[in-house]
Amino acid sequence: MKEVKIETTLQVYEDIKDLPKGIQNLMQTAIEARENAYAPYSKFNVGAALLLDNSIEVIGSNQENASFPSGLCAERTAIYYAGAKYPKAKILKMAITASSQNQVTDKPIPPCGACRQAIAEYEIKQDQPIEIYFMGVSGKVVKSSSLANLLPLVFDSSVL
Ligand code: THU
Repeated sequence: MKEVKIETTLQVYEDIKDLPKGIQNLMQTAIEARENAYAPYSKFNVGAALLLDNSIEVIGSNQENASFPSGLCAERTAIYYAGAKYPKAKILKMAITASSQNQVTDKPIPPCGACRQAIAEYEIKQDQPIEIYFMGVSGKVVKSSSLANLLPLVFDSSVL
């Protein structure tokens, strides 16, 4: 038996104001997207914004359903729209922000496991890292320079 240690490195910004200007703007787009989340059941609004290599921004927000599993997260709404509308474009950056209607969301909210798997598919397909930034409503912003940092031991098509 041998032990395998997996490490990951993330960057933490104290506040949205400390982000480089370009990503601050992308996060602002995600905040606007968050306002349009349809989350009457969880009361948890999430917004995502992608910057593509053709300079276009694509947004997504979570879209819930009375049949709960039929809803979709903000990140996948955005990434599937980008894949459908701009199939040749590479995704450079993704900004995510989340806001609970029940409590103050002042800590960074990372993408769920299913969204990480979905984002991984696109990162692998485009053979270029996607920078991910995530936050709550206020407070710290976490940056991951690649989705791979958030999903060690990814399941990918090489095993199919
Ligand atoms: N949600 C997202 O949009 N992204 C995530 O990464 C985590 C969860 C949504 C799904 C659901 O509408 C609500 O947040 C509560 O889980």
